[in-house]
Amino acid sequence: MKTSRTKLAPTTRRLVTEVYHRLDYGALGPVYCYEGGDEFWLAKRGPCERLGSRVAVVLRRKLRRGGRSLYVGAGVAELPALMMEVLELDRTVEPYNLRRAEVSTLNPACHSIPLAFRAVDAAKAKGRFDHLWMVSVLNDPERFPNLSPLSYGRGDALTLDPVKFEKERRIVRALVSLCMGKLALPGLVTTTTEEVIWIAEWCHKHRIPYTVGKRYYPTALVGDPICFVQIGKKA
Ligand SMILES: C[S@@+](CC[C@H](N)C(=O)[O-])C[C@H]1O[C@@H](n2cnc3c(N)ncnc32)[C@H](O)[C@@H]1O
Repeated sequence: MKTSRTKLAPTTRRLVTEVYHRLDYGALGPVYCYEGGDEFWLAKRGPCERLGSRVAVVLRRKLRRGGRSLYVGAGVAELPALMMEVLELDRTVEPYNLRRAEVSTLNPACHSIPLAFRAVDAAKAKGRFDHLWMVSVLNDPERFPNLSPLSYGRGDALTLDPVKFEKERRIVRALVSLCMGKLALPGLVTTTTEEVIWIAEWCHKHRIPYTVGKRYYPTALVGDPICFVQIGKKA
């Protein structure tokens, strides 16, 4: 298939729009917001599709056909990237997300595409992957309330609980280690500028070369900028 360098293929674009149209935003409201879910999705749905598609176009240049991608914490924002991989690169994707309500909303909306989200810990994924996507997972304030402020440079020396922080840091390091251990080298990691330190730490520990891409791409929901990291390849 001949593709534009700046856009997703027309079929992918049509299907991405269809899936965003089919999503049950009433059910997604409480997944993302304590209140005001309807207004949130009214404002975010368009940017989610647009910015997600832009990242998907960049990702398409970095992946080979027919490989496997592990998506940790993939939700509404990841739909364009996932669909691009399946529809344009003929790749296998395994998206994991611990929020059951989001997974039950995403899967029916994706019924026309070979794409199924799993409400299971991504660390349980089997086999090797040449691409790991981990975006806004390791700095999630809901899951890591003591570690997240430090990730965003907002730590407070007065209120920091070092015991709780250390417990969360251990969980983050364990998740990174389990997921990075599944990456075939050379491989690609898609992550955020806040989370890239954990990937770098793992690479240093294992003496594996890595290169963090210089370009950052905005995201619509959490808002953390995405970057790409080449693993196991000398710059
Ligand atoms: C803040 S949300 C980010 C969602 C999405 N990546 C985005 O940027 O909009 C973090 C997500 O990571 C998921 N998550 C955290 N740890 C996980 C794990 N071990 N396996 C699968 N999903 C996980 C959570 O369930 C949640 O859906």
